[in-house]
Amino acid sequence: MVDLGTQYAAIRDEVNAGIQEVIDTTQFINGSATKAFASELGQYLGVQHVIPCANGTDALQIALMAIGLEEGDEVITVPFTFVATVEVVALLKGKPVFVDVDPLTFNMDARAIEAKITPRTKAIIPVHLFGQPADLSPIMELAEKHGIYVIEDNAQAIGSNYTFPNGDTVKAGSIGHLATTSFYPTKNLGGYGDGGALFTNDDTLAQKIRIICDHGSSRKYYYDAIGVNSRLDSMQAAILRVKLRNLDIYNMRRIASADQYDALLNVIPGITIPTRVQNATHVFHQYTIRVKKHRDALKDYLQSKGIPSMIYYPVPLHVSDAYRIYGYQQGDFPVSEMVATEVLSLPMHSELDAEQINFICGEIAAFMQANA
Ligand SMILES: Cc1ncc(COP(=O)(O)O)c(C=O)c1O
Repeated sequence: MVDLGTQYAAIRDEVNAGIQEVIDTTQFINGSATKAFASELGQYLGVQHVIPCANGTDALQIALMAIGLEEGDEVITVPFTFVATVEVVALLKGKPVFVDVDPLTFNMDARAIEAKITPRTKAIIPVHLFGQPADLSPIMELAEKHGIYVIEDNAQAIGSNYTFPNGDTVKAGSIGHLATTSFYPTKNLGGYGDGGALFTNDDTLAQKIRIICDHGSSRKYYYDAIGVNSRLDSMQAAILRVKLRNLDIYNMRRIASADQYDALLNVIPGITIPTRVQNATHVFHQYTIRVKKHRDALKDYLQSKGIPSMIYYPVPLHVSDAYRIYGYQQGDFPVSEMVATEVLSLPMHSELDAEQINFICGEIAAFMQANA
């Protein structure tokens, strides 16, 4: 699905020098590399504050702690996402309130949100799934109208742009009151271990987040709040600095691969290629097709030809065993349930070449023809 070895080969000297510098300075935690990375990422995204932390799940949890989520507070999000988005709400004793996704983009259906807002609604977490931003303009309007927070889960779409109806174009992750990301190695901006970050333009929230990340202390051994220990180590930051300089190139290569996939797959009956919206760029964290019939057999067939593929995500969270406690039933979110049976993510990374894509698409065509 990814080829981090080939990517590393091209940036080896820079990465190794960055790691060596961290070792030489022995600033392993919160060293100059971490500070420099936070500042460079802030500039890239156009946000005032980037607060690095240990992973994308922590980032979401810390975001909810920073907005003061209390037991029983409701957080509106989607059931078709990676579990972390919902897990943190549950861990903090909030209540995940789901809205369905759009069948074309797999992102939060903004039209379904307002009906779910109650006096207990504290936040909306749109997820920019597979690399394409959710439709943030109506979501921000609703949040403003009802006085609730928007936390963008931007683990999968770093580097993508979103254009507002007035033509303003900004980076995903710079729009909500808060945004979070993950630097898990396979992400578009991935380290060589775990990592994550929060983004905000709100000075007060930023200050709270910094305190929460550091055991709730603003001064060593004096505790203002109940916090966590969540840090991005300096070696990861040194690696991420190099990767950030290449992020636009990596994303452009992903988009070029997606263009080639689109052209070859769009002509195969039974395959639906990913939809790209007009008002955002898709940075293809995943290239995810829909296959109405024989999806699992196609996956097995590709495996037999040495082609990996993945089902992100096979079970929507409202019907996952751990989350049945919230009382949702099969049938409550029909689009999420339907797409979970149809999606198939194909190999996608910045090192994929035209020959590999030709081979993959040729095998998909052969299977679909034989099973028409
Ligand atoms: C949408 C989404 N949210 C949150 C996370 C959690 O990030 P991490 O694995 O760094 O905790 C991930 C990634 O795995 C993700 O894809």
